[in-house]
Amino acid sequence: MLLVGVIVFAAMQLVTPPVTNAPVTNPIKAPADVVAILQRACYDCHSNETNLSWYDKIAPASWLVNADVKEARSRFNFSTWDTLSATDQQGRVWEMVNMVLTHKMPLSTYAALHPKAKLSAADIAVLKNYAEELSPANYHDTALVNATERALDVFSSSVTNDKKQPVAANGIAYIPDFQNWQVISTTNRFDNHSIRVVYANAIAAKAVRENNVQAFPEGSTIVKAVWNSIENENGDIKPGTLNSIQVMTKDTRRFTQSKGWGFAKFNGTGLKPYGTTAAFNTTCFNCHKIADATDYLFNIPLENKTGKREVFDARGLKVITSFANTHQQTLAVLYGNEAAHTTALKGYRVHVPGEVFTLVTYQQANNKYWYGSHIHGEIKSVETVRSGIADNQLTYTLEQGSVAGSATRIAEILSHQPSVFP
Ligand code: HEC
Ligand code: HEC
Repeated sequence: MLLVGVIVFAAMQLVTPPVTNAPVTNPIKAPADVVAILQRACYDCHSNETNLSWYDKIAPASWLVNADVKEARSRFNFSTWDTLSATDQQGRVWEMVNMVLTHKMPLSTYAALHPKAKLSAADIAVLKNYAEELSPANYHDTALVNATERALDVFSSSVTNDKKQPVAANGIAYIPDFQNWQVISTTNRFDNHSIRVVYANAIAAKAVRENNVQAFPEGSTIVKAVWNSIENENGDIKPGTLNSIQVMTKDTRRFTQSKGWGFAKFNGTGLKPYGTTAAFNTTCFNCHKIADATDYLFNIPLENKTGKREVFDARGLKVITSFANTHQQTLAVLYGNEAAHTTALKGYRVHVPGEVFTLVTYQQANNKYWYGSHIHGEIKSVETVRSGIADNQLTYTLEQGSVAGSATRIAEILSHQPSVFP
């Protein structure tokens, strides 16, 4: 028996092709302390400088290690890193930081056997700091401000929706109706300077309210509208040009490789589908794996003091805009009825009877899965401005919470430009 075992074991060693190292052509150019950490903890898998220990080279362990190295290199490779665009590098670095913070990387099986790969709090701080350096503050971007003005002119003069119906390479079509759905969050992303509104269809909004977020039901659909953010040194963040509309929809039979989620992204006001083949779906899903505890969704409203997840019921009003202030640590959504939307698009110059504007202000919270994103915390206030049906006079009501300086609130609420929608 023992002899058979020895022979099988020896044979196993013969069928393991060794991991080979291709040349290092375009290595990452980062500060030395950053590179040192990556070399120590990540290079065995994510580079062409794999330097495995003797025990990694013994089958059957070697089979797993070899498969991991192959997979890891296919995702990104520090030896060819400089072929990525600056934007892709920036995105990857933030993803790396978040994989490390959520203990997804380095792979735990590997870290258990390779103590040098365990990252200390100081190592993680170095990586975070590097990520932040790649995303410096972007105040007073006049090119973006001007492009936003032009986009808003086009948006406000387009009388009817021209029924754009683009379809992504995996078959998911753009959903024009999303603006009538409930908002589950607004996020301010300081990693890539964007501000977002996240909408849920009735099935997904119900699942959130009922705290059924570990496995969203079939037919759950989430749409995220993303704008490039206009920022200033007072902490104000507001939406600029439309970056993209992104979709996640649960269809277990169709999307078997991504836990039932189909992804789609439509770029710019032209809604150009992202991805030339259906394979793009996997690249979206790979990063969403960080949020596996809530069925791959990052933006689940936090549980409040009573353990409930709240979704503000906008009572049929649609989002006019959203904005944030990082000094006050707030995120806000301004809603309006049809009359309010029309007035907002005309710059609030002429009011008509029956306008309803509702501003919901949230405490900003950290996204627990993603360092780089602020999401909705508790509601701080709900305020409504109405124009009287009979006299067209503007009135102000504080519906919930408290705000400072209520005398100036009408002017403040009506000072916000509408966001550019498709
Ligand atoms: C033992 C091999 C191994 C080591 C060491 C390792 N990784 Fe990975 N990494 C993988 C594999 C395999 C995958 C793909 C599988 C998965 O997503 O679970 C992956 C995926 C990733 C991804 C997701 C890429 C994508 O496609 O979206 C990131 C980011 C990442 N690793 C970062 C790191 C960082 C940072 C380190 C070092 C701190 C590290 N990894 C160390 C094997 C490794
Ligand atoms: C590098 C990581 C990463 C990749 C790749 C990625 N996402 Fe996300 N996605 C996030 C993070 C982080 C959030 C939550 C914060 C935010 O952006 O609002 C998010 C949020 C979303 C949401 C809102 C629902 C939720 O999970 O909160 C949708 C919809 C979405 N992404 C679609 C996509 C699509 C479509 C793709 C591929 C084209 C994609 N994502 C690729 C990181 C990623």
